[in-house]
Amino acid sequence: MDERSQSETSSSSLSLRSLSTPNSPDVLNTPDTERCVLFDDDIVEDALDIASHNSQFIMVIGGLGYIGSHTVLELLKEDYNVLIIDDLSNSYLSVLHRIQALANEHFATRDRPMPAVHFRRLDYRNPCMRSVLASYASYKLGTKFSGFHPRSGSNESLPSYAYQSEILRVDSGNKSTEMIQSATIDDPSKPILRCESRIIGVIHFAAFKSVEESIRCPLKYYENNVCGLVDFLGLLQEFGIKNFVFSSSATVYGEGANAGIPLREELCVHHPETYHDDDGDQHHAIPGVLGLTSPYGRTKFMCEAILADIAKADPTWSITSLRYFNPVGCHESGLLGEDPRQKPSNLIPVIEAVLMGDKPVLEIFGTDWDTCDGTAVRDFIHVVDLARGHIAALAAAAAGKIGNSFRTFNLGTGKGHTVREVLKSIEEASCRTIPVREVGRRPGDVGFCVADVRRAEIELGWRAEKSLADCSVNVWNHCQT
Ligand SMILES: NC(=O)c1ccc[n+]([C@@H]2O[C@H](COP(=O)([O-])OP(=O)(O)OC[C@H]3O[C@@H](n4cnc5c(N)ncnc54)[C@H](O)[C@@H]3O)[C@@H](O)[C@H]2O)c1
Repeated sequence: MDERSQSETSSSSLSLRSLSTPNSPDVLNTPDTERCVLFDDDIVEDALDIASHNSQFIMVIGGLGYIGSHTVLELLKEDYNVLIIDDLSNSYLSVLHRIQALANEHFATRDRPMPAVHFRRLDYRNPCMRSVLASYASYKLGTKFSGFHPRSGSNESLPSYAYQSEILRVDSGNKSTEMIQSATIDDPSKPILRCESRIIGVIHFAAFKSVEESIRCPLKYYENNVCGLVDFLGLLQEFGIKNFVFSSSATVYGEGANAGIPLREELCVHHPETYHDDDGDQHHAIPGVLGLTSPYGRTKFMCEAILADIAKADPTWSITSLRYFNPVGCHESGLLGEDPRQKPSNLIPVIEAVLMGDKPVLEIFGTDWDTCDGTAVRDFIHVVDLARGHIAALAAAAAGKIGNSFRTFNLGTGKGHTVREVLKSIEEASCRTIPVREVGRRPGDVGFCVADVRRAEIELGWRAEKSLADCSVNVWNHCQT
């Protein structure tokens, strides 16, 4: 696929066909929709036309990447306004145009306006994030509140900044920060400011994800994936944004993934839990996990542990950690897909590179696993199903259906396919033969990794619907786009 051009010209309308050329517009004015605002650098002096709006947003960090882009599109289709933060370290600006074109197409046949898309090209660790969040915040002045807290059912766990209030708008930027800090003294008689954000939820995709690179450059991974998250959570807390969805991975199960049975969430917990197995026997899950094999895997485990700890300390957080199994496929149009800036390491982009002639063969790592054809079994989940899992998590949290302030969910299909089965399926969809070379197992690989998906089905009301054949057809479309 072409390098995504970032020097593009403007246009008042956009067809899907025009997106397959590198000359798609940088700023799009789409009929009957709010303007999409783009920033090509880290300047966040507020040029957004949002002051007059009261609309609420979901903030998607890393929203132009593979899973993020599909999730943003599904959010828009569900009428959520979206604020995307992405530094384009592993994605391209043209993905934004494609999302918007697909959303426009979706809403063209519906009798309702397209929601807003705001975009900031920004590293989520950049101090400018404070100004971005301030531009979506207003402040309420009041005295100490005595009321009912929805999760605890009592007044006991109310944070010190929960107050009855009247609206007071405060300028964005550093001034607001000073005012919040001066308002944290817990004196019931003193008027106090409470921050109210129009960002009602955050989905956090931004992370580095190459297992192999994480072994070579662990600090890069700990800095972005872990340190970045810690600082970011502090900032969100400051703005009262506490509804958080985290991108986790089946990698947190460590050597548990070698058990050869579907993995249930209790195999990796961060605080003690009691649960019942399929025979009704009670078990006590002990915090921690054995056999994490890479710095990347450790970052996911550490992030989950941090999230679990802050949710325990302050139950007004609502945090869902979604453990993805093997995301594959792409949007049916072929316009969104897995197009990393970095060298691809996941199965599908490598297969695509072979299909496009950019790579001579696909290497199959390990053909001596105890599986039907000797290749590893994975739970391949269509990325659109995965994207919809995030919306289910947001909706369940908003409806108060998630009982805990921190909860993990497997997002998979519950069914396994071997690497050879995936290859065969894509060969059938493309009517091409994919040359392969069999090589040895990679360190840290496991033979069988499949999700137990019952928790997500019961608590989120979500289940994967698309098949491996759907994935393959969509991947071939993506190759041809
Ligand atoms: N793809 C998978 O197989 C898989 C499996 C399990 C978990 N995950 C997790 O899901 C998340 C998304 O994965 P993906 O496959 O979409 O990855 P991706 O690399 O395609 O997307 C990540 C996006 O985040 C952006 N980003 C990275 N660091 C950033 C920063 N500091 N500030 C702002 N933007 C930043 C990148 O530019 C990119 O657009 C990651 O956290 C990853 O670890 C992915």
